[in-house]
Amino acid sequence: MTNKDQLFDNLKKEIFLLWSSHKNLNEFVKLPRNLKYNSIPNNKIESVKILESWEENDSSIKSIHKLIKQVSPYANWRQTYEEKDIGKNFLDKFAYFELFGPTGHFLTSEMSLYVIFFDKETYYTWHNHEAEELYFVISGNAKFESKGDRSEVLYKTRSRFHKSFQPHSLTTINEKCLCLVAWRDKLNSEVRVVNNI
Ligand SMILES: [Fe+2]
Repeated sequence: MTNKDQLFDNLKKEIFLLWSSHKNLNEFVKLPRNLKYNSIPNNKIESVKILESWEENDSSIKSIHKLIKQVSPYANWRQTYEEKDIGKNFLDKFAYFELFGPTGHFLTSEMSLYVIFFDKETYYTWHNHEAEELYFVISGNAKFESKGDRSEVLYKTRSRFHKSFQPHSLTTINEKCLCLVAWRDKLNSEVRVVNNI
């Protein structure tokens, strides 16, 4: 096993431990037992440097925060959005990668698990998708808004559910935010910006 493979394996094991100790995650979706390691290439994105210099502290689930930083140089970071749709400012402050899923570092068709990072003072505009979704905060905090629900600021270990096609947005103010995002169905859903809320 190479160093890269070992780091991804360490993160996978820690995620399984996290799932076994957090009911909100386990009740949303079970983790697949037959994940298949997939050695996809890394992809570097400028905004990830901010994550890589973010030291874990008491507002973090330290073990996961550290393991995500360790795999970061090898991760297939993505942004998906185009600048014309979402703005350069957002793309300077955001990135994500697919850890588990149909195109992830571990393959499965049963669910998707993304790692997503936002710098402080970032506004992730209203968007939606068919897949049902659960955000789970690892570090920092963010304000979560979704149509029909009251908004709330979430800190480490707190989660937030988004229904199928429910528009939602996220804002960070004084602190960065690192989250896991799980999808349990419609894994090939397209994410669309929603202009009329
Ligand atoms: Fe979403």
